[in-house]
Amino acid sequence: MNTDVIGKLLSTLPEDDDHPYRAGPWRPQNTEWQADDLTVLEGEIPRDLDGVYLRNTENPLHPSLTFYHPFDGDGMLHVVGFRDGKAFYRNRFVRTDGFLEENEAGGALWPGVAEPIQAAKRDYGWGARTLMKDASSTDVVVHRGVALTSFWQCGDLYRLNPYTAETLGKEEWNGGFPSDWGVSAHPKVDDRTGELLYFSYSKQAPYLRYGVVDETNTVVHTADIELPGPRLPHDMAFTENYAIFNDFPLFWDPKLLEANIHLPGFHPDMPSRFAVVPRRGGAGDVKWFEADPTFVLHFTNAYEDGDEIVLDGFFEDDPAPVDVDTDDKWQKMFRFLALDRLQTRLHRWRFNLVTGETREERLTDSISEFGMINGAHTGRDYRYAWAATGKPGWFLFDGLMRHDLKTGAEERFSFGEGVYGSETAMAPRVGSAAEDDGYLVTITTDMNTDASYCLVFDAARVADGPVCKLALPERVSSGTHSTWVAGGELRRWRTDDSAAAAIGM
Ligand SMILES: [Fe+2]
Repeated sequence: MNTDVIGKLLSTLPEDDDHPYRAGPWRPQNTEWQADDLTVLEGEIPRDLDGVYLRNTENPLHPSLTFYHPFDGDGMLHVVGFRDGKAFYRNRFVRTDGFLEENEAGGALWPGVAEPIQAAKRDYGWGARTLMKDASSTDVVVHRGVALTSFWQCGDLYRLNPYTAETLGKEEWNGGFPSDWGVSAHPKVDDRTGELLYFSYSKQAPYLRYGVVDETNTVVHTADIELPGPRLPHDMAFTENYAIFNDFPLFWDPKLLEANIHLPGFHPDMPSRFAVVPRRGGAGDVKWFEADPTFVLHFTNAYEDGDEIVLDGFFEDDPAPVDVDTDDKWQKMFRFLALDRLQTRLHRWRFNLVTGETREERLTDSISEFGMINGAHTGRDYRYAWAATGKPGWFLFDGLMRHDLKTGAEERFSFGEGVYGSETAMAPRVGSAAEDDGYLVTITTDMNTDASYCLVFDAARVADGPVCKLALPERVSSGTHSTWVAGGELRRWRTDDSAAAAIGM
């Protein structure tokens, strides 16, 4: 392995930090690495694995103003690239405006989600809440050969080189970027049409807006999706012909909001509502469906089945877990982050476009979240979802699950005591013929060896364990959202002046 340090940023975090989401498996990094020809510790790198695994991370560089929440961390993008049986690694901070400004100031300027916005030291900022930092540390997708990182609440999208993780600037969509509201955490790319679908939400009416960016990077469609008030939608889904949005009964207390206090509350007496909109439809084309009350962080997929829209996602049985009887203040504070507390289970909603009826069913009793699928099946009928299992009480992924949605069969792999993975992307094998013909890629944080590894699994045989284990230069912080993009797709966009024209891939 050829390893170089390409950057080191000044961290002002305390050496003896005891915050559980800035220490242990969440200990942030401040070094930026470049490693080529990664050392293979076990197995071998499949020669038909070609592309890059990108993973975003909440990786703070400075203490919060008062109280840190893991969603506040600065974005750090990790890249593990594969080609011809070799692999490389890069990691870089996402140079957002807020990140650069805080570095200049030497400390936090904007409050995080657990702090009041009144604490902001600037009179401008980002997020649906307003006056937050555009950390861009939540998701990463690839559109037109460029990686786009997002902020969990709504903010700018940052363009990054998908090979080097270098920040290239803000996404502007040829002048059409909705800078007033920003774009929410999970924009969706439809590989079939080359479109990117997104939504924005705000405290201002109509509270939700939907947009479509085409393959030329132009916003070609927008529509207002009117909500009854400010909501906290995190994810969306799409089918071949429709986009699906949500209005869950978990939102900021309207009374407190009048005083600019942002306290989410769950209302189990109110239904969940889903908006089904033709992909190029307007406000008047929205069809609303009601369903059992819950909150959903992430959907796995949606598709059309006759008159019905089928939507799969992780239903939370307990979106607002009650305080636990423990002296551990951290367990009390962060109970909203633990999959076992939220009781997240794969669930299927069927919305009948003719009758207006909703049918829904639980697909499994197993608790998992952060589901990934073979990207070629996005918006289409599919069979498999690969998801993370959570360490009880913690925002840490202790294993992997493969859900066969046709048979209900499940397969698991546990990373082992003290080892945590990230959202695990599915990488179809080059020339892949079947939906599960490919690999799963994840980055682990191994507390036993104080190191991180990239693991590659056979997507059809998760329980067999990794087919390949690669060394990374340094233990990386636990982190979540990721994506896979095929090398062929990146090379399709590679021209001399393209963002992706970088290293020898
Ligand atoms: Fe998310």
